[in-house]
Amino acid sequence: MSILVTGGAGFIGSNFVLDWLADSEETVINLDKLTYAGNLQNLESLNGDGRHVFVRGDIGDQVLVSRLLEEYRPRAVLNFAAESHVDRSILGPDEFVQTNIVGTFRLLEAVRAYWNALDGDAKTDFRLLHVSTDEVYGTLNASEPAFTEEHQYQPNSPYSASKAASDHLVRSYFHTYGLPVVTTNCSNNYGPYHFPEKLIPLIIHNALAGSALPIYGDGQQVRDWLYVSDHCAAIRAVLAGGRLGETYNIGGWNEKPNIEVVRTLCTILDELSPAETGKSYLEQITFVKDRPGHDRRYAIDAGKIERELGWKPAETFETGIRKTVEWYLANQAWVKNITSGQYLEWVEAQYS
Ligand code: NAD
Ligand code: DAU
Repeated sequence: MSILVTGGAGFIGSNFVLDWLADSEETVINLDKLTYAGNLQNLESLNGDGRHVFVRGDIGDQVLVSRLLEEYRPRAVLNFAAESHVDRSILGPDEFVQTNIVGTFRLLEAVRAYWNALDGDAKTDFRLLHVSTDEVYGTLNASEPAFTEEHQYQPNSPYSASKAASDHLVRSYFHTYGLPVVTTNCSNNYGPYHFPEKLIPLIIHNALAGSALPIYGDGQQVRDWLYVSDHCAAIRAVLAGGRLGETYNIGGWNEKPNIEVVRTLCTILDELSPAETGKSYLEQITFVKDRPGHDRRYAIDAGKIERELGWKPAETFETGIRKTVEWYLANQAWVKNITSGQYLEWVEAQYS
């Protein structure tokens, strides 16, 4: 038995592959294009492990995907592959349309042909799990209830619009062709192997480097933070028991304003790795120009997945954020290796 994971060298995908193989003998075929965000160092501990087959390639390459499906005959396909950074989508939406929309469409076509040719239990048991985001629901004001699965899609950035389009395509393949799909919409993840263009790893990196800690706008935007291994556990639960054609919201019940997240990181860093200057990292906080179209608040009602599948997050924000800081302090070589080349060009374009 095997599963095909796309985007398994990225932040969440690599955590998913590592967690999966820590607990299963089932082979993972890992298809990843290795964009700037894909990093095989995340999977170094699997070198020489026959249960992990890495293939560099594009989900939009239908011939390649079809060949992999025929060769490995997976019982499920989990689609993590995407362009994932909102700020990048604002500076250049092209790749987001190509991968998140066209790529998902090509993947669906390859999977549909493969699934059509299956029979018996292999056909009945097959699943396509599409990993998506809470950003498709748009933004909330302070008093509105958290997003349920029934919330209207109102994406506000090129990133969230491209993810919304991919969700709609996946849904349509269930209703039109009967493809056995299930979609997850998750809130903001954090944890090991998070690329330091996103808020939490960027703040840890900049703090230790003695650089400014950029807060967009007034810093009062709210995100609902979930430790990445909890997201991976939720995806395993949905793969095992999610109802076909359904969507499942995943979140940590951890709404925090950005400024509070950054202050918490500074306080933990002051304790675990005090600056040589003797000053608090809090002094590096700098308010900068806001992100265009910046969504004010995301909040996930994760009641459905809890009721139907018994999933609940294991980490609180307090335990998860401390583990995360400890991981980054212990893995400075990982950070150093990726904070070069393309990454620096990106930082220059974004923050100059
Ligand atoms: P990431 O940017 O860290 O990783 C994306 C991975 O996909 C990279 O390894 C990249 O090389 C690969 N990739 C990109 N384009 C590809 C293509 N055309 N073909 C094959 N591989 C390709 O992203 P992430 O944060 O790990 O997010 C993974 C998924 O989870 C995405 O679909 C994202 O929308 C969703 N998601 C992310 C979060 C979050 O907080 N990070 C929350 C909810 C949902
Ligand atoms: O909600 C789920 C989404 O969470 C995922 O779908 C996306 O793939 C993921 O990137 C993330 O999107 P956000 O835009 O919420 O994450 P980001 O880390 O970029 O920003 C978190 C918040 O912090 C957001 O309100 C913007 C703010 N921010 C971000 C950066 C990079 C800053 O204030 N300063 C910064 O330098």
